[in-house]
Amino acid sequence: MNNEHKKITVVGAGNVGASCAQRIAERGYVDVVLMDIVESLPQGKALDILQSGPLLGFSNSIIGTNSYQETTNSDITIITAGVTRKPGMSRDDLLLANMEIVKGVTDNIVNYSPDSIIIMVTNPLDAMAQLAFRLSRFPRNRVIGMSGVLDTARFKAFIAMELNISVRDIQALVLGGHGDTMVPIPRLTTVSGIPIAEFLPEERINSIVDRTIKAGDEVLSKTGISAYYAPSAAIARMVDAIVLNENKILPCSAYLEGEYGINGVFVGVPVKLGRSGIEDIIEVKLTPQESEALMRSAEAVRELDKIMKLD
Ligand code: NAI
Ligand code: 2OP
Repeated sequence: MNNEHKKITVVGAGNVGASCAQRIAERGYVDVVLMDIVESLPQGKALDILQSGPLLGFSNSIIGTNSYQETTNSDITIITAGVTRKPGMSRDDLLLANMEIVKGVTDNIVNYSPDSIIIMVTNPLDAMAQLAFRLSRFPRNRVIGMSGVLDTARFKAFIAMELNISVRDIQALVLGGHGDTMVPIPRLTTVSGIPIAEFLPEERINSIVDRTIKAGDEVLSKTGISAYYAPSAAIARMVDAIVLNENKILPCSAYLEGEYGINGVFVGVPVKLGRSGIEDIIEVKLTPQESEALMRSAEAVRELDKIMKLD
């Protein structure tokens, strides 16, 4: 990556993609290309975002397009293209439809931006990251799934609400796949360094863990559409870490090669995010129970890979 304005492409100008384009454009330090197959939609949304520049004080470029030509040599490509859940559906129900979409998008990234870092957002998240990784043949540091940053933010938000304390004081960790098998880790969750077990009884913690796992469903059941405010903020947080070379430790879906005793599958773990994407995978010593839950989550992702015939 050069040190001029980074070029970031967001594929999919729907709720998550457009909000994400807005959030990263407002940072002022990247040029943004918003791409969608729907004619004139990304152009219109990009124009709308651009017109907020004079009010918010950013003047970097933001364009919309229906052609990959304009995405050429993107430093980061964020994939949000795909179909979403309707109330009552699981993320896994999206597998076959989104598999075809992600295949096409990945081919285009390989052709037009062979050095790009891919941030996968489309669901089912871990399986789609695996698909892009296998098809692109990019090294594993350049294919990253967005899930843990969002799931951890939700966990933190619920703890802050419960304790009526600043969300800024909470450090938390959620591991595993982005779905019903995700693994929030209360043992490593603290308020200003104090374990949450000092603040809350076990049944309250369990209930917050359960709400975190179902947080996407809770929004979907109330609004009728998939969440996008917090998801777009989570993507932007990852973009910050990469573009600003923060070497920030964030939970992301990463391709494991033996870490945590898991091999050949994407699953959520803490990683160090910096200029090259995943600079390092952080291995935390887990209890046997936590480790078993993480393994179960990885197996659930592997099942989807089998359906996609990636194994
Ligand atoms: P949306 O329906 O608002 O937008 C999807 C956009 O993708 C549409 O504008 C559509 O035209 C576009 N699209 C479809 N096929 C395309 C292609 N081949 N090339 C380019 N664009 C294409 O959906 P939303 O709410 O933005 O969600 C997008 C995806 O992100 C869904 O799969 C959703 O489940 C997932 N998601 C994942 C999250 C995570 O934590 N990883 C969080 C929230 C959503
Ligand atoms: C969410 O967690 C749908 O994956 C999306 O809100």
